[in-house]
Amino acid sequence: MQITAENILSALRNVDDPDLKKDIVTLGMVKDVVVSGSEVSFTVVLTTPACPMKELIKKACINAVKMFVDDSLEVTVNMTANVTTTENKTLPGVRNIIAISSGKGGVGKSTIAANLAVSLANTGARVGLLDADIYGPSIPILFGFEGEKPYLNAENKLIPFERHNVKLMSIGTLVSPQQAIVWRGPMASKALRQMIFDTAWGELDYLLIDMPPGTGDVHLTLVQALPVTGAVVITTPQKLAVADARKGAEMFRWDQINVPILGVIENMAYFIPDDAPDKKYYIFGENGGKSLAGDLETQLLGQIPIRQGIAENSDFGTPVAVYENGVLGESYKEIAQKLAQNVAIRNANFAPTHRVEIQKS
Ligand SMILES: Nc1ncnc2c1ncn2[C@@H]1O[C@H](COP(=O)(O)OP(=O)(O)O)[C@@H](O)[C@H]1O
Ligand SMILES: [Mg+2]
Repeated sequence: MQITAENILSALRNVDDPDLKKDIVTLGMVKDVVVSGSEVSFTVVLTTPACPMKELIKKACINAVKMFVDDSLEVTVNMTANVTTTENKTLPGVRNIIAISSGKGGVGKSTIAANLAVSLANTGARVGLLDADIYGPSIPILFGFEGEKPYLNAENKLIPFERHNVKLMSIGTLVSPQQAIVWRGPMASKALRQMIFDTAWGELDYLLIDMPPGTGDVHLTLVQALPVTGAVVITTPQKLAVADARKGAEMFRWDQINVPILGVIENMAYFIPDDAPDKKYYIFGENGGKSLAGDLETQLLGQIPIRQGIAENSDFGTPVAVYENGVLGESYKEIAQKLAQNVAIRNANFAPTHRVEIQKS
């Protein structure tokens, strides 16, 4: 019997994408099926290069072809990714916009945004990070471009800085926090809009935005200016921090705004002493992140331990995800994968986020 591409496709209908819960053929993820004698090849296009189930899906494809078509076939599966999006009109080329938010300052929002950006870029995704924390920008310090000014390209757009394959722009390069402190909301909003739209981001799979803590004009500007794909909420375990984070996150859930919350990250979750690496001390309490995720009807993407020396590393302008292979690097990698999965699920299941028209009274 002559084996056809149709036979291969119908075998592959037995393989599901575990996140989207449909088979990969129906989802349009199988491309370029070629049958040549006893050799079969095809490409599986995942929804993110950060997919933790890449190997599992690949093996399932090979098994399905062998089981349902012919055991003796030589099967080659090429795995690629095409990050999904629901919108690309407002900021052409940018597929997903993710707001990294927190209830209050000092919980590690910028540190985590920087490390998530690097972790996502490590998977091969095209990543940008926008520092919108107008009153306390710290991305230039975290990536070592403090005091540098961005160049303009031929179209008069700001050329983002680039470190560790992440495109970076910070409101701190346009205005000093000392200046910003006396700005009223509309000025901050105008500066933010400029930075978003006047930066030559190019093609990005994920644009992470390091938000100011809490809620305010900058937050409203952001959801008015951009169709934000979703928000990530950072908290520390303390009850008060969790309460603040919950208050901050509620804004995204307002009826008119309705930005999905893609998950919670608990920072400074526990402490592992250098001289007793098998011990975990929950010095700030346990389960704060988990209970917040429950309240917000979202997932706890992960917990980041307290790290001795993290501050020194940050001061050298190198996020730990760049070189750390230990517990911290692994935590960031897992969190980045879950976040990318949740973005893909969101894009498959929900209508696009709309920009918000808010009437100010
Ligand atoms: N997991 C952690 N362990 C130890 N120190 C941390 C951790 N996360 C953040 N920090 C430190 O806490 C301080 C505040 O972090 P930062 O990312 O600037 O917070 P935010 O952006 O929320 O204000 C920084 O000095 C940072 O190095
Ligand atoms: Mg910060």
